[in-house]
Amino acid sequence: MNDNVLLVEEQDGVLVLTLNRPELMNAFNFTLLNALKEQVDGLRFNEDIRVVIITGSGLKAFCAGADLKEREGMNELQVKTFIFTIRNLFTAIEDLNKPVIAAINGIALGGGMELCLACDIRIAAASASMGLTETRLAIIPGAGGTQRLPRLIGRGKAKELIFTGRRVDAQEALQIGLVNKICEKDALLSECQKMAQMICDTGPIAIEQAKYAINNGLETDLHTGLGIESNAYWVTIPTADRLEGLAAFREKRKPVYKGK
Ligand code: COA
Repeated sequence: MNDNVLLVEEQDGVLVLTLNRPELMNAFNFTLLNALKEQVDGLRFNEDIRVVIITGSGLKAFCAGADLKEREGMNELQVKTFIFTIRNLFTAIEDLNKPVIAAINGIALGGGMELCLACDIRIAAASASMGLTETRLAIIPGAGGTQRLPRLIGRGKAKELIFTGRRVDAQEALQIGLVNKICEKDALLSECQKMAQMICDTGPIAIEQAKYAINNGLETDLHTGLGIESNAYWVTIPTADRLEGLAAFREKRKPVYKGK
């Protein structure tokens, strides 16, 4: 049995979290959920980490959703606890004050796809396939899928995919806006790292405020959203980083941002 269910690797401001239960398609049991929760909880005030990448280990899967073998032995209260925990965890990922990139290296089903939906950016291997297959198990997506999928790809397509439980391949995922881009499997992590490094060049407070404005503004009417954007902008004005950006432009050099 594998004890190290979540691999954690940090390099140059980027934290790579790898779901590591490849023998079970990286399915979420309570142990993996808690390990991911512990990492996410520790990230908000960790100024050394600018971007998080989440991926899966092994050749086949990103994550096949809830561990259905564990689920079989659970009573109803335990199932409710699992659903409550995974839903709140994915919301915490969505609300994290740093960008999170899903590196979808293979199959992403049920909760695995819902994890992708809670991430800010999704990049998939050409061999990946994705689906909210829960209705095929006589349950519904319970970790945000019924809410985040229609917001991302529109309600008609989301209803089609949720009602049928159909899986889409990477090409279709790209076409319907479910993923930002696709690339060859071998290049997946380096593509994600490349994007992460571009984000690392930006101002940390700017990124935090931009994410806040997008996430919160989109859930309101335009007028309220513009108010949220305005307040988020005001946060960046008194920062040393804003002055550093102007100075670097004047001096024709790369800015050095400190998140201050
Ligand atoms: N929970 C627990 N174990 C899982 C799992 C899950 N969600 N998904 C796959 N596994 C296990 C399989 O049981 C198998 O283990 P075994 O060798 O002990 O039988 C192993 O992972 C490999 O899966 P297998 O089904 O043999 O591979 P495959 O390539 O034929 O199919 C899937 C892969 C993911 C398409 C298929 O396993 C599947 O449909 N899984 C369920 C996915 C799902 O419905 N998720 C939503 C949960 S709410």
